[in-house]
Amino acid sequence: ALSRDVTRLDVPVTDLRRAPVCSGPLPALKPTDGHTVMIRTDLLDPGKVPVPYPSPEKRSDCWDDWHTIQSRWDLIHQALSVPLKSSHDVKDAILKYNAGQAKAWNFSALHSYCKGLQESEAEQMFGELLPAMAQLALRAPSLFTQPIPLLRTQRCCSITLSQEQVSSLLANAFFCTFPRRNSRRTDFSNYPDINFNRLFEGPSPKKLEKLKTLLCYFERITRRRPTGLITYTRQCLQRLPSWASSEKQFSKLRISCDGTIEEQGYGMLQVDFANRFVGGGVTGSGLVQEEIRFLINPELIAARLFTEVLEDNECLIITDNELICGEARGSAFYGGSMAGRTRCCCQDSLIGFAESQWPRQMMLGTEQFSRYSGYSDTYRWDGNHDDQTPRDEWQRRVTEIVAIDALHYRNFLQQFHPENMTRELNKAYCGFTRPGVQMENLSAVATGNWGCGAFGGDTRLKAVLQMMAAAEAERDVMYFTFGDAELVTDVHSIHTLITRNRASVGSVFNMLLQYYERVIKETSRAKPQKTLYSFLSEHL
Ligand code: AR6
Repeated sequence: ALSRDVTRLDVPVTDLRRAPVCSGPLPALKPTDGHTVMIRTDLLDPGKVPVPYPSPEKRSDCWDDWHTIQSRWDLIHQALSVPLKSSHDVKDAILKYNAGQAKAWNFSALHSYCKGLQESEAEQMFGELLPAMAQLALRAPSLFTQPIPLLRTQRCCSITLSQEQVSSLLANAFFCTFPRRNSRRTDFSNYPDINFNRLFEGPSPKKLEKLKTLLCYFERITRRRPTGLITYTRQCLQRLPSWASSEKQFSKLRISCDGTIEEQGYGMLQVDFANRFVGGGVTGSGLVQEEIRFLINPELIAARLFTEVLEDNECLIITDNELICGEARGSAFYGGSMAGRTRCCCQDSLIGFAESQWPRQMMLGTEQFSRYSGYSDTYRWDGNHDDQTPRDEWQRRVTEIVAIDALHYRNFLQQFHPENMTRELNKAYCGFTRPGVQMENLSAVATGNWGCGAFGGDTRLKAVLQMMAAAEAERDVMYFTFGDAELVTDVHSIHTLITRNRASVGSVFNMLLQYYERVIKETSRAKPQKTLYSFLSEHL
């Protein structure tokens, strides 16, 4: 029997693979139909700021040819070129080019943040930081010399950007310059919010901590230009596993009560407990796992500009990819105005292409800039973080993050419905699988109570589903229970039973179906009397 106070169980942590040690060699970085690379790959040099591609003099017409938007950009230019001496000046500047929002937007969080600054801090903010951020935002036309494609639904496609380009996108988000993104009634209704206006509103103290965290990022990148690259990949799978007949064996599990995905999961595939609109409430009021990750690694927020809502067979991976592409449909910066001209990548299915075309990893390369303490209401910005994660040959930090959105359950029993269990299995599998990559090159999955906080799922069911998806994708699992010691012993025991009995993924799936038929369907209360794990233990 296992003692209750045990906090870490099963395989030694050294048995789990991490990048970069486990990674296979990377092919040379080059653009393909399915991979837009926004920098000059021939000039890539470690420690140097990457050069935009194409060179500004060869710039495609993305910035010159849209007259109505040109006049808006002129307005932005004027508004951000004058000194901003107070939060009221920031508000006035933003409303100059968002005149229609004057009544709807309020800036009370920004005002109260600025009111709380010491004199020297205020001098730094208005004398140095904001002017540098405004300049960074206004450099967008020289940093983006081709349109940024959109990562649209049901298309696999990657974008590689420099950290500096991403910083300019985020400075534009801060100053709310993105047009057609402030209303649900536009072509972008299926995209997350990108402008930061909601961050500035309301009296909540959580907003102040969010602002501190993001301004720490802006301070760092305006002081020292970042030199790395980041790849954002949308992966969609058409052919999904046949769970009932899977003969795969469960992989290794290490489960721990202490630690977090971002800290102890370095070098592993780190799961973002996502919203289908990636980043969830990061620019609004949300402040749980996904939002915190997006705050401490703010480069993740840029994904909101170009990532359309995730469907059931899709995930977003922030890394490198070699995929197929088709023709274009609009671009993220300045929207549909470039429709037809933009190269965007589309492909119906990942499955069925030559191995060399498979993605090798996926959101890869973001840097952590801040530390934090607490969680949700107790979240606090806790100062600078000096990210020492090594870079790969493409100058990306080897931090690979995958956004997978669980279903939101309001009723406990719902999640045991076969359709819902299959949906979650497919979603997790889509996040974990890397078709074409050798098993020994795959890092372990660093995950935890996915879908079991804000989304109300049951940790014990989700742990089994994630272990099944990881087994199918041939990856080991590092599971962080976030302080739940009982969950450590329970999940460890069920994993031990499964592996001792050499039960396959398919056989466990069939037991889940039986649990639904025999227990859940017969339950008239909110929760069943027989727990899933006692049922599984009896049947294994
Ligand atoms: N490392 C490991 N585990 C963690 C960490 C961490 N850093 N942070 C939290 N947990 P939740 P969901 C555990 O509620 O239910 C957001 O708004 C902790 O036990 O963030 O999938 C998204 O945008 C926590 O209760 O994920 C979505 O809209 C549990 O993970 C929505 O929430 C679940 O964290 C997703 O909700």
